[in-house]
Amino acid sequence: MINGLERIRCAALHEKVMSVEKAIAFIQDGAVVGLSGFGGAGEAKTVPLALADYAQNHPMKITLATGASLGNRIDGRLNDAHALARRYPYQADPTLRKAINNGEVMYIDQHLSELADNIRHKNLPKINVAVVAATAITEDGQIIPTGSCGNSANFIEMADHVIIEIDNTISPVLEGAHDIYVPKARPNREPIPLTEAGDRIGTIGIHVDPSKISAIVLNDIPDTSFKMDEADNETLAIAKHLIHFFENEVAVGRLPENLGPLQSGVGSIANAVFAGFEHSNFHDLEMYSEVLQDCTFQLIDSGKMKFASGCSMTLSDECAKRVMNNFERYKDKIVLRPQELSNNPEIIRRLGIIAINTALEFDIYGNVNSTHVTGTKMMNGIGGSGDFTRHAHLAIFVTKSIAKGGAISSVVPMVSHCDHAEHDIDVLVTEQGLADLRGLAPRERALKIIENCAHPSYKADLLNYFERACALGGQTPHVLREALSWHAQFEETGSMKSA
Ligand code: COA
Repeated sequence: MINGLERIRCAALHEKVMSVEKAIAFIQDGAVVGLSGFGGAGEAKTVPLALADYAQNHPMKITLATGASLGNRIDGRLNDAHALARRYPYQADPTLRKAINNGEVMYIDQHLSELADNIRHKNLPKINVAVVAATAITEDGQIIPTGSCGNSANFIEMADHVIIEIDNTISPVLEGAHDIYVPKARPNREPIPLTEAGDRIGTIGIHVDPSKISAIVLNDIPDTSFKMDEADNETLAIAKHLIHFFENEVAVGRLPENLGPLQSGVGSIANAVFAGFEHSNFHDLEMYSEVLQDCTFQLIDSGKMKFASGCSMTLSDECAKRVMNNFERYKDKIVLRPQELSNNPEIIRRLGIIAINTALEFDIYGNVNSTHVTGTKMMNGIGGSGDFTRHAHLAIFVTKSIAKGGAISSVVPMVSHCDHAEHDIDVLVTEQGLADLRGLAPRERALKIIENCAHPSYKADLLNYFERACALGGQTPHVLREALSWHAQFEETGSMKSA
């Protein structure tokens, strides 16, 4: 038997198995393709990589929609073949980043919870072909996702053609870890019946009309392995400030003893900060988040965390091996959901989530830029940070106070691009300290942010700016001609430092 056929337990579908060369013929020039994958986990690989090879010699362009970023350089390879016309809702590939910033690929940077609903309600074009990775297909034809749920169920529901990639590299033990729930289209939308982070409200797999399955392909390319930077002095200090803040919130009765459900952003800083809980006195922690990183499983292993709900697992090789080899230990402690659910505003508000995300920079009034370097160049995208921040019980942003060896201050007079407005932000943290902004007016915020969060080498300049701005007046005082001068100076001289 061909390796992987035993995973297609619905025998009637065996006749749909074909070579990848045949399968990619369903993807025509100009198609809108919905690909599984979120945070570099759970993407279909064989089909998009074969498409990239094909497009090298047969010029074509597609619109590519995914859950979020992809691994295996899929975005990079499709970009190298000039096969991407449009891309949404999130990406993190360095070569595609260049093409986006050169204006070669049109990138629509979107809140991750919204993409499916935007396609469902025709704000965005229809999906022509869904390409989705599967651990298995059950006897009754349900598609069991792999390391992420992303938008797979939505793409399958909305596409004309469905191509399934049976992923032989994914451990079959994952079956049962997913909870697939697809909201109905308006006007028939109902409240989502999820009231606890650990609730299961759907099915273990994705239901699909079998007649829509055009091809099944077998995949032997593994997901990308992730290596997080070790915590350093700055990220350890950020974690310490946060833990101290949480301890105080519990002591004064504003937060429950286990804090309530936590969300953690992506990247090295978020991973290190979250790992800080390991050395805290907190226990029975819960996550209702997007990406489950190594730190989630470390906290489960050490008994600190009792449950984690996410949409994707992006793990280092070592952690993935440990988790898959001992999955029985984790099975009742994790659940993977579609991103429409993991990032859902209704649920985030209901559960009272504490959202901890990473900023590139924030300004003295508490506006946050997570996406645009010096206001123009896209870094990655807003991802789920807006989904969580806008609806969280406590919205927290962390960053180091300086970047590029001190040439950049992460605290600036005015952010050069605003992803998260001051109205949504409760707490800002750098290695220098923590600014609790709740209940403060802009002028009060500015003093606290400069005093507690700015790096000593930029504090005097920020205070000087703020005082001169206040002399001009306003609810949110600025010296307009100077507000972005720090960024302009960095572009011109390579440093924000005053002479
Ligand atoms: N200006 C310019 N560059 C900056 C900067 C600033 N103010 N602050 C940081 N950087 C640079 C760093 O120097 C580093 O550059 P390098 O890759 O050349 O070394 C890069 O940005 C990444 O910074 P790092 O300190 O390593 O942080 P990170 O890996 O934790 O990533 C974000 C930080 C903001 C890029 C990342 O968290 C992100 O893309 N967030 C948006 C999406 C999101 O929040 N998703 C989660 C929602 S659930």
